[in-house]
Amino acid sequence: MDKFEKIFYNNEAWIAEKLQTNPQYFEQLAQGQEPEFLYIGCSDSRVTAEDLMGAQPGEVFIHRNIANMVISIDLNAMSVINYAVRHLKVKHIIVCGHYGCGGVKAAMQPADLGILNPWLRNIRDVYRTYKDELNAITNKHDRYDRLVELNVQEQCINVIKLAAVQEAYRDREITVHGWVFDIKTGKLIDLKIDFPKILAGIMEIYRIS
Ligand code: CO
Repeated sequence: MDKFEKIFYNNEAWIAEKLQTNPQYFEQLAQGQEPEFLYIGCSDSRVTAEDLMGAQPGEVFIHRNIANMVISIDLNAMSVINYAVRHLKVKHIIVCGHYGCGGVKAAMQPADLGILNPWLRNIRDVYRTYKDELNAITNKHDRYDRLVELNVQEQCINVIKLAAVQEAYRDREITVHGWVFDIKTGKLIDLKIDFPKILAGIMEIYRIS
């Protein structure tokens, strides 16, 4: 059996496994979703959202793109966040980056990557914002890891810039989290970003709601 055919074989096995523990599993799943989490992660095939969180279908609303970016003119990401916050009323928004991210690595190199340039430019902008801190790190692997973390932090700030999120902050409990997944160990790391402190410094500029 080749890898493509095996997918459908796996699907049948998965259905059987779910029904064995709960014969109504899919009927219940079809009734709707009430996820508490919005996860924004990288498209990297090694960084699957549900697996690394131990989550089941229905628990996490997911958006993935190259290098887990939150860009204000990206209609796709903006639609996902607005729907998750305004309609699904998620309680947690997670931006999850990962060490060894190819998108972040590409943005650290002087290479013309065509259509990817404008996308990766946003990561270069993060580098520029934290240039002093990053350039002070002499080990290039450590610098790369740190840019992964700072990129997560900046994308979390981009989440907070959105009207839907600011509105939700005012009206109910909602928290933004910055995580990094370490592919080498499988560990999920909470960057424990101090958002109240960051917000105090930037909300005079970004408040729109
Ligand atoms: Co990546």
